[in-house]
Amino acid sequence: MDKSSQSKKISYSTPDFSSYPPRAIEDVVVHPLGLEVVYEKNKRTFHLSRDLREHATDPETTHPITKETLISPLNIPDDFSIKQAEISSDGFARVTWSHKITPNDKGVSVYHSGWLYRTGMITEVNFEDAIEAKIWDAIDFGDIPKISGTNFSDNKEFEKMLITLIQYGVVIIKGLPVNEDTLENIASKIGTIRNSNFGRIFDVKYKHNPDSNAYTNEELLLHNDLSTREYIPGLQLLFCMINETDGGFSTLADGFSIADYIRKQDKKMYDLLSDYNVSFANKAKTSDYRIESPIIRHNNKGAVDEIRWTCWLRSPLRGSLTEMNDFYEAQKKFYKLVNSIQFKVEFKLNPGDMICMDNRRILHGRSRFSETHGERWLRGCYLERDELQSALRVVRRDMRWHG
Ligand SMILES: [Fe+2]
Repeated sequence: MDKSSQSKKISYSTPDFSSYPPRAIEDVVVHPLGLEVVYEKNKRTFHLSRDLREHATDPETTHPITKETLISPLNIPDDFSIKQAEISSDGFARVTWSHKITPNDKGVSVYHSGWLYRTGMITEVNFEDAIEAKIWDAIDFGDIPKISGTNFSDNKEFEKMLITLIQYGVVIIKGLPVNEDTLENIASKIGTIRNSNFGRIFDVKYKHNPDSNAYTNEELLLHNDLSTREYIPGLQLLFCMINETDGGFSTLADGFSIADYIRKQDKKMYDLLSDYNVSFANKAKTSDYRIESPIIRHNNKGAVDEIRWTCWLRSPLRGSLTEMNDFYEAQKKFYKLVNSIQFKVEFKLNPGDMICMDNRRILHGRSRFSETHGERWLRGCYLERDELQSALRVVRRDMRWHG
């Protein structure tokens, strides 16, 4: 058996499409509620009996093609338990159950050692797809890797692009073919495009009857897109088709970095930006999206997860005069930092260049340009943030299987 078919065999012995490096199991211990698995260096995982049974890989429990679970908690008796457990000849965990659940059930399930380790380990967080965000300021921006658009079919280059985008919230791809299909080709390689009131794909160019400041020649102050929506798109791609104008420079700033700076410098201001609900409302003839949200939002682990800011879509403040004044001061200081030389970068996009950015982290904008001297045309679209992690897992799965 060659190496690739061997790894395929291993991956199919788990209830998903991923592959897991096998781990040496040193002992299995049966408890009244479940299984304890002991690995080298005294590492241990624990698996609840009823939950473990739901994730067995036999075809009556896990569909052999979809890999989705066919049974539910309703199939598992309340007194379900493990009668016996042992290490099988191939180093996996073999469990004999108290009850047979499905029509052809033998009452025995075998679990891959790497899958048990990966799904059960709670103290080790440094798994291969746990990529930490790296915050950046204007000086650091030059160190963020650029990606060559000429070698994009290569899985390694695509993986590098995804990792850079996850870490820094932004990546620039240079030298892509300048045609109308390129944006969609790159977006589709990452995941599914999210539609919006600006269309599935939008063209950012000067319009005589604009429905957004983006379609004028005015300066666009740093902002994120669709901050009036309940759920802001997690990713935005902007592809440069033409940029012949005087001006029209692209601007970017890392919102996470600015939040980190404020938290360290002025906790009162940070708390105001995290607590005060700002009203944002879109102003268009055919839509009326509104949301109330703080500028800085956190995830359920307390880490900064979203910066929401589009100053020309902010509605009048509400509250006592003192509250409004305190918040107004805080937002002004925040925006001063966003636009400071410490955090804001400015550069010219050339035809064939694409900015891929985390639209809930990176604030973007552009300088004013002349509507009469030369043309400026960017194509854009949105995706969700979790498309990145999904694409990364899939490309790594492909590289493991196919070398
Ligand atoms: Fe924008």
